[in-house]
Amino acid sequence: MDEKNVLEIRDLHTSFFTEKGVVRAVNGVDLNVPEGKIIGLVGESGCGKSMTARSVMGLVRYPGKVESGSIRLDGKELTGLKDQDLREVCGNDVSMIFQEPMTSLNPVLRVGHQVEESLLVHHKVNSRKEAKQEVIEMFNHVGIPEAEQRYSCYPHELSGGLRQRVMIAMAMICEPRLLIADEPTTALDVTVEAQILRLMKELCEEHGMSVLLITHNLGVVAEICDEVYVMYAGRIVEHASVFSLFDHTSHPYTKGLLSSIPRIGKNPEYLHTIPGIVPNLLHLPEGCPFSTRCDLALERCRKELPELNAVGENHECRCFEAIKEG
Ligand SMILES: Nc1ncnc2c1ncn2[C@@H]1O[C@H](COP(=O)(O)OP(=O)(O)OP(=O)(O)O)[C@@H](O)[C@H]1O
Ligand SMILES: [Mg+2]
Repeated sequence: MDEKNVLEIRDLHTSFFTEKGVVRAVNGVDLNVPEGKIIGLVGESGCGKSMTARSVMGLVRYPGKVESGSIRLDGKELTGLKDQDLREVCGNDVSMIFQEPMTSLNPVLRVGHQVEESLLVHHKVNSRKEAKQEVIEMFNHVGIPEAEQRYSCYPHELSGGLRQRVMIAMAMICEPRLLIADEPTTALDVTVEAQILRLMKELCEEHGMSVLLITHNLGVVAEICDEVYVMYAGRIVEHASVFSLFDHTSHPYTKGLLSSIPRIGKNPEYLHTIPGIVPNLLHLPEGCPFSTRCDLALERCRKELPELNAVGENHECRCFEAIKEG
């Protein structure tokens, strides 16, 4: 591929060193986000999606640690940088929408001022007046009704859904090169969700923004992503263009995820349909981590970890059986 990658993650290992032992939350992840593309990252709860994102942002907290691997932003290595240097490198270029919006807003500042601040800090506007106008415009874009009044509200005066939209506005207003969005629309109703996803797509197409979109919702993936990474127990098990993933699903785990979408646009409840539970990351099985739940698992699968191998054009899969078929 001759695409330029804004973000390149190589063999990333992020673990938690707990009293009970080492929790391998991210266990050798490779992932690229090409310029102007929306890349989906999907997988069941606890498989390491947020920790992958937090590793990029330098936000893994004790007892967690990025142990090894490489994270490059526009070719610049981020691992090993001190917080201050990381902020300088990422600064304007990377924004993140967090999964828990309540903890990310300052309770004693009016929401409009918080969003405005990021514009002023990054010198995107010349005056407070101009900044206020831009904030209100962005509030309208992300579906905040009565934007002008809401501008002066404190976080506790807004509903959860509105706070989420304020977070989204804050992340997008500086037009970052890379947006990492962790379940950004999960708490929102479908019309607002559609509006926000459209806005994201627009920013990609018009300003070349790139997005790493973490979601449970495969309907959302089908609608706006260019490529998808499927994660299971800390590892990428399948990676493909969206078209190829839905058309030539290879990994038994991905097949399970897809077969359990009740309806496009609604949250799938795949925990009920793939038998068994996600392995404990403290005690990973030997071999393929999915082997304990997989119908196709053979003796070899329980002993040896398959590599992520090409099974088609722009399509990789970590499964001995899929490689045979592909
Ligand atoms: N402070 C911690 N101590 C020990 N283990 C942790 C800690 N925080 C996270 N983990 C482990 O890291 C793993 C990955 O967590 P992560 O938050 O990345 O999951 P996720 O894929 O984002 O899940 P969800 O879809 O529920 O948001 C989890 O299985 C969890 O057990
Ligand atoms: Mg998460």
